[in-house]
Amino acid sequence: MCEGVNVDYIYLLGRAKEAREKAYAPYSKYKVGAALLTVDGDIFTGCNVENVSYGLSICAERTALFTAIAAGKRDFIAMSIVASSPEVSPCGACRQVLCELAPQAEIITFSRAGDIKIKKVAELLPEAFGGLYV
Ligand code: THU
Repeated sequence: MCEGVNVDYIYLLGRAKEAREKAYAPYSKYKVGAALLTVDGDIFTGCNVENVSYGLSICAERTALFTAIAAGKRDFIAMSIVASSPEVSPCGACRQVLCELAPQAEIITFSRAGDIKIKKVAELLPEAFGGLYV
């Protein structure tokens, strides 16, 4: 497992696991953590935060990304995502947001078998909506 994977990415997975511990998910009980690596080596983490008005909940990926943007970061290398299920794949809303804010980032997740999966954002959402700006 993890053969040939950048050491930073292993560390990033650890940070996502830590972030998952902080998830507020009393409704779904499904905890997710994300860790985002910037080009200057900083890491921003996020967890999912739910609300009794379910639609107001936010995913771990967007929490991490918006936190980084709010800190003035614009360039990202990778995001790792960890969930309480054996497999995790970012939702459509997060894919759209990643396409706009972190188009170059690699998305790192675990496969069911325990191997690391690394995908580019464009692979996760080909032909993303670009509105009037494409
Ligand atoms: N969730 C995430 O945080 N990230 C994903 O990639 C998928 C879903 C959250 C949203 C909600 O709090 C819970 O997981 C169940 O959908």
